[in-house]
Amino acid sequence: MALALLVPGGRGQLGQDVVAATPGDGLVHAPSSAELDLTDAAVVADAVAAFAASARDAGLRPVVVNAAAYTAVDAAETDADRAFEVNAVGPGHLAASCHEHDVPLLHVSTDYVFPGDGDRPYEPTDPTGPRSVYGRTKLAGEERVLSTAARAWVVRTAWVYGEHGGNFVKTMARLAAANDTLSVVDDQVGSPTWSLDLAHGLVELAAAVASGGTPPRVLHATGGGETTWCGFARAIFAELGLDPERVRPCGTADFPRPAPRPAYSVLSGRAWADAGLTPLRHWREALRAAVAAGAVP
Ligand SMILES: NC(=O)c1ccc[n+]([C@@H]2O[C@H](COP(=O)([O-])OP(=O)(O)OC[C@H]3O[C@@H](n4cnc5c(N)ncnc54)[C@H](OP(=O)(O)O)[C@@H]3O)[C@@H](O)[C@H]2O)c1
Repeated sequence: MALALLVPGGRGQLGQDVVAATPGDGLVHAPSSAELDLTDAAVVADAVAAFAASARDAGLRPVVVNAAAYTAVDAAETDADRAFEVNAVGPGHLAASCHEHDVPLLHVSTDYVFPGDGDRPYEPTDPTGPRSVYGRTKLAGEERVLSTAARAWVVRTAWVYGEHGGNFVKTMARLAAANDTLSVVDDQVGSPTWSLDLAHGLVELAAAVASGGTPPRVLHATGGGETTWCGFARAIFAELGLDPERVRPCGTADFPRPAPRPAYSVLSGRAWADAGLTPLRHWREALRAAVAAGAVP
């Protein structure tokens, strides 16, 4: 039986790629925040009820993939109430409605729930310990979703870039055009993730849970391998036919930001693979494919 997906945050970077990754025999509804505001409990209840009914009437299996979030990491430091509304309260409303209508919910979360001081890839079961407002609100969202809906799964990802919306790849391309050299931090480690690869992974997970699968309820999905922001920037330069040596390494202390960044953000994909899900390809291969496809910059 084919899938029907409801994607709150459907006009965001990841949301638009979930639409692109939805199989042709399925249906996808990807509302903007104006059309489906997660912080409005009544709006969420009506939207999920209507979605579940229309999907089942059409003989499809409904799944909600929550791609909506307050993602302005630095702004969240001084806008904590709003970040909490969107990242914790809203997902709680969504989970309550999904539970009521027995609709599986996939909720996207972040490496920022971890303290970022590890020295081996974080497993989904490792202790959390967010250091920023954004991370704390996302962790609160995870907890609400998992405690409210029996059929809810949290998928943490990191360092996402894609065709839609601003991201690091686009920023590097823009700065390359305007500067001879760039300084990029070389002491933060993570795994770049092409949002289209993540979207395909989410659709695979949606199909699995829609047909009764019961993978672990917290999973990690990022591009394979790891690098630093400087390494990522040099790879972007190389893909664009530019000299990677124009990117110079610097330290986090050279770029003070309102929200602390995790020094180590690598998420282990072992639980994802053990659940029978296709590992996302290596970040370097994905970057080459994304550039070749014209998705970035
Ligand atoms: N980007 C990354 O590097 C990264 C890393 C780790 C995890 N993540 C997670 O990945 C997910 C997708 O992120 P993204 O990169 O696609 O972010 P994005 O481009 O900023 O998209 C987020 C979307 O959420 C929507 N939204 C905001 N408030 C909302 C509300 N009250 N109700 C409904 N929708 C609302 C926004 O719509 P409007 O703009 O119309 O308000 C926006 O389209 C998020 O859960 C994020 O935490 C991202």
